[in-house]
Amino acid sequence: MRIHIFVGTGGVGKTSVTAASALSAALQGERALVLTIDPARRLRTALGLDAINDASSADAARLQQQVSLDSISSGGTRGELHAVMLDVASSLNRAVRLHASPKQAEEILAHPIYQVLLRSLAGMQELMAVERLDQAIAEGFESVYVDTAPSRHALEFVDKPEFFAQLVSFPIVRLVGKTYRWWEKSGIGRFSRGTFELYTRVEDMLGSHLTRQVLDFFSIFRGIAEGYAHRARHTAELLRDPAITSFTVVTNPLKAVRDADFFLKELERRRFHVSSLVMNRVWPRLENMSRINDSLTTATAAGMDDATREALRGTIAWYDAVSRSHQTVWNHVHSSYSQRIPHLVQVPELPEDIAGLPALQHIAQHMKA
Ligand SMILES: Nc1ncnc2c1ncn2[C@@H]1O[C@H](COP(=O)(O)OP(=O)(O)O)[C@@H](O)[C@H]1O
Ligand SMILES: [Mg+2]
Repeated sequence: MRIHIFVGTGGVGKTSVTAASALSAALQGERALVLTIDPARRLRTALGLDAINDASSADAARLQQQVSLDSISSGGTRGELHAVMLDVASSLNRAVRLHASPKQAEEILAHPIYQVLLRSLAGMQELMAVERLDQAIAEGFESVYVDTAPSRHALEFVDKPEFFAQLVSFPIVRLVGKTYRWWEKSGIGRFSRGTFELYTRVEDMLGSHLTRQVLDFFSIFRGIAEGYAHRARHTAELLRDPAITSFTVVTNPLKAVRDADFFLKELERRRFHVSSLVMNRVWPRLENMSRINDSLTTATAAGMDDATREALRGTIAWYDAVSRSHQTVWNHVHSSYSQRIPHLVQVPELPEDIAGLPALQHIAQHMKA
């Protein structure tokens, strides 16, 4: 089992590169799973993930799709590509059902605090990725490709297992989880407000209705949280094992210098293994500028007017300058990081939107070259 985690800022092509890498593994015969976050609409369609949008129901099967590879391989592939869209609400519901007894699950899912939690807890998506990774291991995938949240804070993804494990092991949290229901039933709170100072103080701050809801929720959620934390701790160990997990930084020419520095520092600080950096959307150099200039001259002879010719020259000069600046960035990245990152890869700007399997395959081919 291998885990490939892709990090990067928004809009650089992280989702596309992640999906392309998973597709490539499947075409080479692996049983691969891609966990995506918020894919662009047409890519979502291509991966068969459209139905998942309305999976507010507990229909777990629809959260995962096997992608048909028929359109790009002539049936010779023994591998499989499965795709999951990480959607906070449906994945957390699924996790609750997985860890809790059916009766407990209903209690939790219907709880107003749970609804608030779903909408507000920062990093919930990362938490879900950890949960899904764990399921993927259980389901026997050979490789898992994880698209992380599009931000510089995406590394919360890798901090979360420990964070969550620590949270539920705080003595105070355990105490509340274990004692609150008993305290409430016993009626002690009504007689002597001083006895359980913790609860009465919290009540003063939040108001008694809300406090009751929060504490009540926590007392039923505690079991789930502990089950989750136990598994998450295990996942965190896998993430640190270079024989199992590797990280890829995805960036583009505009952001490469800053991103490479930032992510490498952050990942190394956490003792994660960075295997690759993909600089996506590089404008290829125009080959044969002299021939292009020659044909402009010929075009003039053939009747192209001066204004059109100058406009064309301007456009070509502009393209050439941009592509040259991309190459300068690449050279810089290469000389700065080739010692520390084993694979440095350029993927060109493709003439098509990354909306289907053929486009993903093009990206994958460039990554291998
Ligand atoms: N190499 C590329 N060439 C052309 N368009 C690309 C390329 N990579 C990504 N795109 C396009 O850029 C947009 C953002 O890509 P996406 O993978 O969703 O980025 P991210 O996940 O980093 O936000 C999409 O419209 C996608 O089709
Ligand atoms: Mg994305």
